[in-house]
Amino acid sequence: MDQERLLRELYEFLRIPSVSTLPAHNKDCRAAAEWVAAELRRLGCRDVEFLGSDTHPVVFGKGPDVPGAPTLLIYGHYDVQPPDPLNEWTRPPFEPAVSDGKLYARGSADDKGQVFCLLKAIAASPRPPVNFRFLIEGEEEYGSKVLFDLLKREPQRVRADVALVADMSYVAPGWPAVYTTLRGLCYAEITVRTSKTDLHSGEYGGAAPNAHEELARLLTRLKGADGKINIPGFYAPVKRPGKSELAAWKKLPFNEKDFLNKRVQGKGLVGLKKYSVLERLWALPTFEIHGILGGFTGEGAKTVIPAEATAKVSMRLVPNQELATVERQLAAAVKRFAPKHVTASVRFLHGADPAQIKVDHPAFQLLSQAFKEVTGRATVLARAGGSIPVVPALASAGAPVILTGIGLPDDRLHAPNEKLDLKQLWDGIEVFQRFYALLGGAGRM
Ligand code: BES
Ligand code: MN
Ligand code: MN
Repeated sequence: MDQERLLRELYEFLRIPSVSTLPAHNKDCRAAAEWVAAELRRLGCRDVEFLGSDTHPVVFGKGPDVPGAPTLLIYGHYDVQPPDPLNEWTRPPFEPAVSDGKLYARGSADDKGQVFCLLKAIAASPRPPVNFRFLIEGEEEYGSKVLFDLLKREPQRVRADVALVADMSYVAPGWPAVYTTLRGLCYAEITVRTSKTDLHSGEYGGAAPNAHEELARLLTRLKGADGKINIPGFYAPVKRPGKSELAAWKKLPFNEKDFLNKRVQGKGLVGLKKYSVLERLWALPTFEIHGILGGFTGEGAKTVIPAEATAKVSMRLVPNQELATVERQLAAAVKRFAPKHVTASVRFLHGADPAQIKVDHPAFQLLSQAFKEVTGRATVLARAGGSIPVVPALASAGAPVILTGIGLPDDRLHAPNEKLDLKQLWDGIEVFQRFYALLGGAGRM
């Protein structure tokens, strides 16, 4: 493997600030799509297509036909999350650099580095006898609307024997994993209005309602200090994992103290204390506040009663919960909890249903074997706390969806100083190279 050349190529991909949620980066998203398309052409895809959008197209490609061979659909995303807060990065987020065997850049692990890994594993000859299909989207971090619309119009695009999604991590260093569930997501803005305009807090304070105060109260009614979410009906469909699954989690290299001290690096954990931390992360829904807007947040001091306040919030959903139902439940709860002197409204930005994946198809064994041969350890089964909006649709299209990845739990996805360990990348290229060979060798399944 010519690691230096590969790194140079990956740097080019990582230098493109393809932040899908910010319209100012539309051109960059398009540029990242072009980068992917050029790469697919180099892999022998003849008609690479840009589908669904000019600025955030789904890049679709078909590798050379190999009659009688299995069809493998490779999914990934070329968009990234916003890099802020910028001052917390040791180096600028779109100027990739290696230090101590780690590659630092926004998108290094999520998901450009992993897309790169899957593609370079094909380029590493000999050419595997597999019919490759590529579906690399540019809106995963903003709800995948373009891709959903495409699949509604053209469901046959994802017809395959196996779908491979490498947008996850090992459960711990040395422990590759395959995931059986993904949480869903319901992202919303809750806005509270209390008066026509902002008011002088001396003239009006004590009698006029304050939008921030009302919003704060509303938010703490939606989720209490004990970590319980009080949206009526919210937990009703949630099922606890079975005994054997919970027992298997106890054998995973996961330690609650280390999670607090090394990963969260805070003073204590929160949430529903009667459940283990893994159960809270993997099998229970959440309610998070991402940011609160409104009022006076500039330098200095201004004595004002804000008339409006907005919170960006999201809920993670677990299997059997449904996005559409949860949207209704949140809207109803906000209406019910807001006092009469307040106008409260909810705007839904995007979301995803949770996914549950059966892992009994023989392809899962082949991937496990590939990991075992290259890294010395077979895959373990785990659940994922994160979301990939298109996965439920992929799963219902019929092919088994393999959720796996080469990241590590401390890669700092979506956060400052995101990184990818280069050893994970080089091993990963070998793992997937081996997996493609095994899959091709197994013939159609
Ligand atoms: N790669 C992540 C999903 C992920 C993260 C899975 C960690 C397992 C563990 C993906 O890019 C992601 O961040 N998805 C978003 C989706 C959302 C914006 C609709 C997420 O989970 O916040
Ligand atoms: Mn991702
Ligand atoms: Mn992400």
